[in-house]
Amino acid sequence: MKHIGVIGAGTMGNGIAHIFAQSGYNVRLIDLSEIALEKALATISKNLDRMVAKEKISEIDKTNTLNNIHIFTDMSSAVKGLDLVVEAANENMDIKLKIFSQLDELCDEHTILGSNTSSISITKIASATQRADKVIGIHFMNPVPVMKLVEVIRGYATSDEVTNTIMEVSKSLNKVPVEVNDYPGFVANRILMPMINEAINTLHEGVAKVEEIDTVMMLGMAHPMGPLHLADFIGLDVCLSILEVMYDGFGNQKYAPCPLLVNMVTAGKLGVKSSEGFYDYSEGTKNKKLSAQFSR
Ligand code: CAA
Repeated sequence: MKHIGVIGAGTMGNGIAHIFAQSGYNVRLIDLSEIALEKALATISKNLDRMVAKEKISEIDKTNTLNNIHIFTDMSSAVKGLDLVVEAANENMDIKLKIFSQLDELCDEHTILGSNTSSISITKIASATQRADKVIGIHFMNPVPVMKLVEVIRGYATSDEVTNTIMEVSKSLNKVPVEVNDYPGFVANRILMPMINEAINTLHEGVAKVEEIDTVMMLGMAHPMGPLHLADFIGLDVCLSILEVMYDGFGNQKYAPCPLLVNMVTAGKLGVKSSEGFYDYSEGTKNKKLSAQFSR
């Protein structure tokens, strides 16, 4: 295991490329957009600078990490000779099925195809390929360089050998992998998203206000961020789509997305990525203030 491809240069993709490169893997970061790739390299460099400043790594480590990352806009030329591909494209079923069908055609026979999906069925993704035994979920948490967990999701046909390989690869990144089976929301989001949805219901019903709800969970339960702040950080559109996958998959009312969440996503209030959700981030994430919508 030496050559790793990462598909998608967004928040998750750049974090995944960063940690593989820092652990000595040769990384090919692939995205259709040259601008997104340049932005990802700048973000990785900034995050490495922060680690150098804190004396967690040396300048040489930073240079080596950046030298291990190569950027590509054309998937066909990038995937030959890869041992593992980690797909971190948009959380959209059609996009993922298309990417996996292409990867199956283009990649070497031995290449393991991983997805960083937060909720889409690994078994479904694998059905777009002729190598379902080599398709697996490798779910990193945001911010990837900081969070220790990797949720390793076995699809219906994922082999023991591939699962064991990905468990070992995750450990080599200094992460803690946990093996789970392929059911809606897996484990992380099956537990996290109902909590976030319940926090939004609590707000919607007027039980308490935004900052009060977050304070209860931060100071009462020692969460590093309150659930409404965390929802903004994850993206309200992502939270909604995960809840919809669980609502469809289990047919249980307890996963029904709160109408306020649906309204906010429809109105384009997606959290940090659109500068406004429950909080307003127009002056940066460090200077967040309550969104005008919720300050009345
Ligand atoms: N990249 C690299 N390092 C980062 C970073 C980033 N994007 N953001 C923060 N850090 C580092 C900082 O350098 C700092 O390092 P030290 O401890 O060595 O000083 C550390 O993380 C803490 O950062 P800050 O002091 O700036 O900020 P903070 O104390 O408020 O922590 C946080 C920020 C780590 C994001 C923390 O608030 C936290 O853990 N929040 C919860 C995050 C979470 O729950 N993530 C999972 C979301 S769910 C998901 O991802 C999966 C899904 O499918 C939806």
